[in-house]
Amino acid sequence: MSYYARHVFFCCNQRDPASGRSCCNARGASEMREYAKQRVKALGLDGPGKVRVNQAGCLDRCEEGPCLVVYPEAVWYTYVDRADVEEILVEHVQHGRVVERLRI
Ligand code: FES
Repeated sequence: MSYYARHVFFCCNQRDPASGRSCCNARGASEMREYAKQRVKALGLDGPGKVRVNQAGCLDRCEEGPCLVVYPEAVWYTYVDRADVEEILVEHVQHGRVVERLRI
């Protein structure tokens, strides 16, 4: 049995703009991760046996991002705004229904 029922990793990598490659943090990743943490707590989903939201470094899908991945299903998502993150949290993280429209 997993320690967490679902584990969400947000890539929050910040890359030097001079590098010429995009990065998730330049597209709002840290703010969205903070939002997700607050929402998971507000929904009563946080804690052992339930849900954990963590920051990750580059997950190497930079051009498809910003990206996050939900385990144990290993489903990858991109998102644009809070509404997208909210949909992932409620549909997938809370109820186990994959959000196909945001899947990468
Ligand atoms: S910067 Fe996010 S996947 Fe690489």
